[in-house]
Amino acid sequence: MSSNFYERIGDEYDLMTDADERAGRELPVILDLLGLPSDSRILEIGCATGALAAALGREGHEVIGLDPVGSFITMAKGRRDLPASVSFVQAHFEEWFPHQGEAFDAALCLGHTLPHLVADRPVADVMRDIGETLRPGGQFLAQMVNPSLVEARGHWEPPARTWERGGVRVTLRRRWIDRGDSLQLRITRITDSDEGTAQRNWDQTLPKVRSEQIAEILRGDPWTDLRLLADVAGNAFEKSSSPALVALARRR
Ligand SMILES: C[S@@+](CC[C@H](N)C(=O)[O-])C[C@H]1O[C@@H](n2cnc3c(N)ncnc32)[C@H](O)[C@@H]1O
Repeated sequence: MSSNFYERIGDEYDLMTDADERAGRELPVILDLLGLPSDSRILEIGCATGALAAALGREGHEVIGLDPVGSFITMAKGRRDLPASVSFVQAHFEEWFPHQGEAFDAALCLGHTLPHLVADRPVADVMRDIGETLRPGGQFLAQMVNPSLVEARGHWEPPARTWERGGVRVTLRRRWIDRGDSLQLRITRITDSDEGTAQRNWDQTLPKVRSEQIAEILRGDPWTDLRLLADVAGNAFEKSSSPALVALARRR
């Protein structure tokens, strides 16, 4: 488990991922993809600062957002206009999920969260546990960096993000690097101010979750209707050229 990595990034996580803009952009396509009735119960595993969970709540859904990072959960709970139907819990999924029952219409594991869950456990066990939180017919949606693209290119970088705060210009770059069975994420933070330029790196290494592995598990019991996609908008997945791997399946 690698929550300390996020504790160190702190409130810059939202700026780095442009969390609210992304939630606004992805919300309609995720709702379209899942086709949920408006009062559905949704579990978001690895909710970070809660941008998507809050947006789903504003659409009339009941949402539980789980994340082990205390500062993320504090920021999530402090969101303005947070609907009463959205709650946040500071927990690791594997410690939280037992005894929840088959309670959810959808379980979301977005933005490269699934590789965190499989860092210490077999992928099949994690998927079984996620399946146990779903009602029959409930849907599982995962989105992560496609390790085959990183393997094909050696590394992959999404566009860098830059912002200014208190007279300091901050640039964050993310670089995904192929490390055999793992992907290394190197975040480089460059600050420019009157006092000069400074650079720091953070590294995080997580196991690869491959499309073949996901497909094999989600083609077996209790799953059905597997779709491998390039994005939450539903575009077709291309193993060697899609930056993201999105998997959608339904519990029988
Ligand atoms: C790459 S971030 C993605 C966050 C968000 N879903 C997004 O799309 O931006 C992964 C998140 O998973 C959380 N996480 C790590 N291990 C976890 C676990 N065992 N259970 C639940 N969440 C976990 C991290 O704290 C982090 O917020």
